[in-house]
Amino acid sequence: MIVARDAVARVVEVVPHPLPYFTLVLEVPDVYAEVTAGQFVMLETTGGLEPYLRRAFSVADVSKRGDVVVIELLAKVVGRGTRAMAELGRGTRRALLGPLGRGFDLPEAGPVALVAGGVGSAPLLLASRRLAARGVRFDFFYGGRSAADLPRRDDFARAAQAAGGRLVVATEDGSEGFRGRVTEALAAELDAGRAYRATYSCGPMPMLAALARLSAERGMPGEAALETEMGCGFGACLGCAVPHVSGRFALCCQDGPVFRLDEVRW
Ligand SMILES: Cc1cc2nc3c(=O)[nH]c(=O)nc-3n(C[C@H](O)[C@H](O)[C@H](O)COP(=O)(O)OP(=O)(O)OC[C@H]3O[C@@H](n4cnc5c(N)ncnc54)[C@H](O)[C@@H]3O)c2cc1C
Ligand code: FES
Repeated sequence: MIVARDAVARVVEVVPHPLPYFTLVLEVPDVYAEVTAGQFVMLETTGGLEPYLRRAFSVADVSKRGDVVVIELLAKVVGRGTRAMAELGRGTRRALLGPLGRGFDLPEAGPVALVAGGVGSAPLLLASRRLAARGVRFDFFYGGRSAADLPRRDDFARAAQAAGGRLVVATEDGSEGFRGRVTEALAAELDAGRAYRATYSCGPMPMLAALARLSAERGMPGEAALETEMGCGFGACLGCAVPHVSGRFALCCQDGPVFRLDEVRW
């Protein structure tokens, strides 16, 4: 397991997909080469005191450019911090704490389903790279309100195809693929006879709750990366409590952000 460290990351580039979605590429310490899909970082967004707290982002990808390790953060502009991130100039330095949390426990054999809602696809890009490297077949279920809410869909299609699987798109307005929610698209595939050993997911809480219900009904295990609001990212502020089936609360930043679907009280 990698020990998280507080470091200074250098901005390599910001790639719009188009906005409000973008990828921030950061030069980071070598320890990130071993990051687990589902782990996250706490990033200083502006370099000033406003906003005061760092923001949490899943590591969406990791690679080497020459001798340098770079990570990619796939993000959506929703407020002050993410707006500042989207405007970062090449070479800018920002404090970065990570890699943090518990990632996905990915399998050695498939087929499995990756299930993403909107920018919740971020940790599943790295998951798809890791699965492909193991030769594990997966289908990628990608849902959004409309076709505009599926950033980097071509990367997910390529990753799934490379592993012998495919991309299944679901949009609520019917602008692309299956008309409806991504969990309904998954249910339709299961009804048609497709079987998965497990699901690995990230997205809005209602989507994950629906997936937990579907998984329980079909006897299909799964893990989900949760995105609660976070203050510190390392267990100090208790701001990220997740209701646990034990009756107690788990900390999303330390016990998660990846939980088994059947251990969260949705
Ligand atoms: C472990 C983890 C991983 C994450 N990974 C990603 C990622 O890969 N890509 C990405 O785009 N976002 C991710 N998020 C969410 C991201 O942290 C928030 O979008 C970000 O903190 C918003 O900062 P802001 O200053 O732009 O918005 P703010 O001005 O702080 O808030 C704007 C709006 O966004 C809402 N918001 C703030 N934080 C969250 C949150 N955690 N979840 C849902 N809504 C929130 C606020 O309630 C408010 O309505 C992740 C969150 C966690 C906890
Ligand atoms: S974010 Fe502070 S305890 Fe989890």
